[in-house]
Amino acid sequence: MNFELTEEHKMIRDAARDFAQTELLSGVIERDETQSFPTEQVKKLGELGFLGMMVDPKYGGAGMDEISYVLAMEEISKVDASTSVVMSVNNSLVCWGLETFGTEQQKEKYLKPLASGEILGAFCLSEPEAGSDATSQQTTAIDKGDYYLLNGTKNWITNGNTASVYLVIAQTDVEKKHKGINAFIVEKSMDGFVVGAKENKLGIRGSDTHSIMFTDVKVPKENRIGEDGFGFTFAMKTLAGGRIGIAAQALGIASGAYELALKYSKERKAFGKEISKHQAIAFKLADMATEIDAARLLCLKAAWLKDNGKNYDRASAMAKVFASETAMKTTVEAVQVHGGYGFVKEYHVERLMRDAKITQIYEGTSEIQRIVISRSILK
Ligand code: CAA
Repeated sequence: MNFELTEEHKMIRDAARDFAQTELLSGVIERDETQSFPTEQVKKLGELGFLGMMVDPKYGGAGMDEISYVLAMEEISKVDASTSVVMSVNNSLVCWGLETFGTEQQKEKYLKPLASGEILGAFCLSEPEAGSDATSQQTTAIDKGDYYLLNGTKNWITNGNTASVYLVIAQTDVEKKHKGINAFIVEKSMDGFVVGAKENKLGIRGSDTHSIMFTDVKVPKENRIGEDGFGFTFAMKTLAGGRIGIAAQALGIASGAYELALKYSKERKAFGKEISKHQAIAFKLADMATEIDAARLLCLKAAWLKDNGKNYDRASAMAKVFASETAMKTTVEAVQVHGGYGFVKEYHVERLMRDAKITQIYEGTSEIQRIVISRSILK
């Protein structure tokens, strides 16, 4: 066993760290306040190869591994989780799903511009009444011969308005329950595709979250992903990898807050010495550092399993549940270490605390991760 990163991994981590410091940090508070999408920054992320990190270069990707993705996600998320969710959805849910299960024609047409960052993708599974209970899809796609007729509403879609291509999960045969679900590649420009209102969110406010409505959208048959009835398995397999990305995002939020708390505690004096020299603060820092290390190991283990072709369903759920709970705990404590300053925007930790919460909700709540883990243990 080797806990040392390779030189290449260190270079990728450092490039992501540098990008976060030089391109993301300066405007992050304003983007959060004004709910502004990081358009220029995302364009630059694409130029660096960070929007199609694991995609084969022949499809416009950067050909990196999952470990590199975890390292980059942590660094970007330390500074700006609104940007890292864009990166995560495009990499894990959209590009990975298309590269792994798409046809050559689908990869040529859609994966290439998505992986190179020319366009963005979105993943549409959640519905007003089907978030955790993903088999209860109400969106329908009726087989009409050479096309499917798509009707329904999707909720809380990341990249909702900024994406051009949407992977949409829909019910094609209610009788068959989850075996009658399919996944489709849907273009925003198709007739009947409507982007709904933008959500006004607690956290990751710079990201672009919308509902999406489909009214009699004609989706060509060649845009179905995989065999008929493959849609639910497609969603589950794609989300298992997506959870590694969100776990790494949570890890980054936690480590970003910890680094700020550590720095502040060495500068701020109270009762005649730096607050880091008071055991009440030192023990908080010790707990944060320990939990962050454990979360990082879980993220890297899940990534290693994926890179090595092994099953990572349980490992990704473990990484996500632990890292997201660590993000929540660490950010709350980081605000506490900062005292009154922690409650104001300039110190960043209140935003990280708000951003942390979503990591316990999207791509499967903490409760869903515990279902996945316990079923895997008990089966
Ligand atoms: N790989 C392959 N197949 C899988 C699978 C996996 N990881 N997990 C489940 N399946 C298969 C099962 O084998 C089963 O198939 P068979 O009947 O043929 O054996 C089928 O799928 C149904 O599985 P379950 O009976 O376990 O289904 P369930 O209804 O009990 O639900 C669940 C399972 C784990 C709770 C699932 O519904 C789930 O993960 N829910 C959460 C969905 C989610 O993560 N939503 C997030 C939305 S996306 C998002 O947030 C994106 C964004 O914008 C950031």
